[in-house]
Amino acid sequence: MTRLRIFSGAQPTGHLTIGNYLGAIRRWAEEDQHRADALFCVVDLHAMTVEHDPARLRRLTRQTAQLLLACGLDPALCTVYVQSHVDEHTRLGYLLECTATDGEMRRMVQYKEKAAQERAKGGSVRLSLLTYPVLMAADILMFGTDEVPVGDDQAQHVELARDLAARFNQRYGPVFRVPRATHPAVATRVMDLQEPGAKMGKSRAVTSGVLRLLDEPDVLRKKIMRAVTDSGSGIAYDREERPGLSNLLELLAAATSRKPAEVAEEYAAAGAGYGVLKRDTADAVVELLRPVQRRHAEIAADPAQVDAVLRAGAERARGLARPRVDAAYEAVGLMPAAG
Ligand code: AMP
Ligand code: TRP
Repeated sequence: MTRLRIFSGAQPTGHLTIGNYLGAIRRWAEEDQHRADALFCVVDLHAMTVEHDPARLRRLTRQTAQLLLACGLDPALCTVYVQSHVDEHTRLGYLLECTATDGEMRRMVQYKEKAAQERAKGGSVRLSLLTYPVLMAADILMFGTDEVPVGDDQAQHVELARDLAARFNQRYGPVFRVPRATHPAVATRVMDLQEPGAKMGKSRAVTSGVLRLLDEPDVLRKKIMRAVTDSGSGIAYDREERPGLSNLLELLAAATSRKPAEVAEEYAAAGAGYGVLKRDTADAVVELLRPVQRRHAEIAADPAQVDAVLRAGAERARGLARPRVDAAYEAVGLMPAAG
């Protein structure tokens, strides 16, 4: 019997945040790598879909890999590698561009938002921003992936990967497995502390509402104590009406493995105010990240070891993907090279 296959990725577009951790990486480390054949990728090609600086991309790719390991991904249990080290991603990406449609791409919510942001900054929109979800589909499909553990913002992209797999199989024969997205129970979308209407993102210009995994404890505390709450009084969990407060409740609940509504009831029953909730949330977040920060310092001190992990990871990923991508090339009618 073949083992369940899991694939997911993180872009080296900025410093990883607690949104990345709670929405995705923590589950990769605590659950996914133990129960399946799991691959986790630093998707550097995806980081080039918007204006980028080469030196920064290089630096962040290494840092993202180090942080994945610091968050508990264990190379003895799972495969960790860098996307651009494995050619199969772009090789399959092209075939899937010949499967997807222009209309389908333009409907992607993330494309519409990011393209609007780029235009608002007076910049142009890279073509790769439009085709990005196709490359993401290739990332997933080339491994015969069953499950894709991601935050809520990636649901539409995984849905597209499912559509492309089914369409390809129907036209050319059964080459791909149809994957499905999985989301965490709590904190599937952590919001910006200063702007609770927007997702906490690593590439936001203003960082006072963004909790980075490598922020010093006093910086984490300060950002949480200054979080925007709502004008209502009393503590209640209501994402629609009280988004700022509910975001803090989710952070505290996720950091202490509880449910946000339960946490809210506890604070309401004790007659506690925002100040106490913020202080407890800050304590919980600092404690949650302490071991990650400690391990990151150790891992960053040994770059040769990180290189070795990534080299072995890329080799394994290549070997796993190659036969399926070859089969796809043959299925669409491309002539196999003699040899
Ligand atoms: P990215 O930062 O876009 O490369 O995302 C890496 C993973 O983290 C993806 O699975 C995202 O869905 C997840 N993620 C990113 N930001 C958040 C957030 N604010 N809340 C929950 N999950 C997130
Ligand atoms: N698009 C994802 C994000 O922004 C990152 C990603 C790229 C990914 N390829 C993937 C996630 C494949 C899951 C599977 O978060």
